[in-house]
Amino acid sequence: MKELKPPPLLLLGPGPSNVSYRVLRAMSTPLLGHMDPRFMEIMDEVCQLLRDTFQTQNKMTFPVSGTGSAGMEAALVNVLEPGDKAVIGVNGVFGARMADVAGRCGAQVITVEAPWGQPLDGQQMLEAMRANPGAKLCGVVMAETSTGVLQPLQELGAFLKGTEALFLVDTVTALGGVNVEVDNWGIDVCYSGTQKCLSVPPGLAPITFSPKAMQVLAKRQSKVQSWYLDLTLLQKYWGSDRLYHHTAPISMIYGLCEGLRIIAEEGLANRCARHSAAAAYLARGLADMGFGFYAAEGYRLPSLTCVFPPAGWDVEAVRKQLLKDYDIEVGAGLGAVAGKVWRIGLMGENACVQKVNVLLGALKDFA
Ligand SMILES: Cc1ncc(COP(=O)(O)O)c(C=O)c1O
Repeated sequence: MKELKPPPLLLLGPGPSNVSYRVLRAMSTPLLGHMDPRFMEIMDEVCQLLRDTFQTQNKMTFPVSGTGSAGMEAALVNVLEPGDKAVIGVNGVFGARMADVAGRCGAQVITVEAPWGQPLDGQQMLEAMRANPGAKLCGVVMAETSTGVLQPLQELGAFLKGTEALFLVDTVTALGGVNVEVDNWGIDVCYSGTQKCLSVPPGLAPITFSPKAMQVLAKRQSKVQSWYLDLTLLQKYWGSDRLYHHTAPISMIYGLCEGLRIIAEEGLANRCARHSAAAAYLARGLADMGFGFYAAEGYRLPSLTCVFPPAGWDVEAVRKQLLKDYDIEVGAGLGAVAGKVWRIGLMGENACVQKVNVLLGALKDFA
């Protein structure tokens, strides 16, 4: 049988992003057992590096086994019980997924909607919380990957700090590339995915729970409906008890550890500045070529730029040709803008001028 040999592509879509050789090498190092004390040292290092990246002191901070959606499920299933109210902002695919998952937990979901490409209206979110005083949580997506919108969080966080409700935030397309300040912004439950700005393959979902969220978990009347994602069980493996729960994905945790070390070496602030600078450079290059921008000005994500190619371009044909003839992946549009936009990710390893120049150079062939 032939050896598996996928081509080395430039992954400028909505994720996965390219992974450094350091991370790939770490992932190919020998396996340790998931109960080996030497593996536990690595687990502890991962938890601390994740706290640094989330900018939190939360003890309960670890990577959930599974992709970003497992992080979303873990976030919601642990705090929601049947009959609870959950206010969720929806301005794209991932807000809608959050509302769907909350509904599957048996919650009564109150959605606050904004048009795709626009941020959620903070005042409307506050009004929805005031109109539903017992609501257990308020959930928003910080970086809406379907539209490229960056959601401001501070005002909502400050309001929720003074209430019983939990502030739950999806940072899948932000963590490690866009500043996320869990403690300063009053976020109680926050999750991400490894395959975007962290530049690690897909497979783990970093998550953090504040002491307020842990109290909600402790006061539950019913068991968490998912055994696999039940934090009361998982904390016995990730915490000091070290009780077996499930076999940890060892090589993924090695990869995440190395990816987080790279972030620590670069410095989080430097890394976020690099993402912003690369996105600004891309935006200038695309604007010069006649591209239009989907996300409202002032709310554009550094990690993902959603654009309308110039009039006359066959949006899908050019995207496919970029992949076939240039080894460059850019993402297709979703939902209402499927076939109309591209989603260009500059995440982790790829957030740099050199990678942008490769893309812009290729695009000139179509102009
Ligand atoms: C904002 C957001 N949330 C959740 C997810 C789900 O993550 P995954 O596809 O890794 O399960 C994604 C994936 O793109 C995302 O962009």
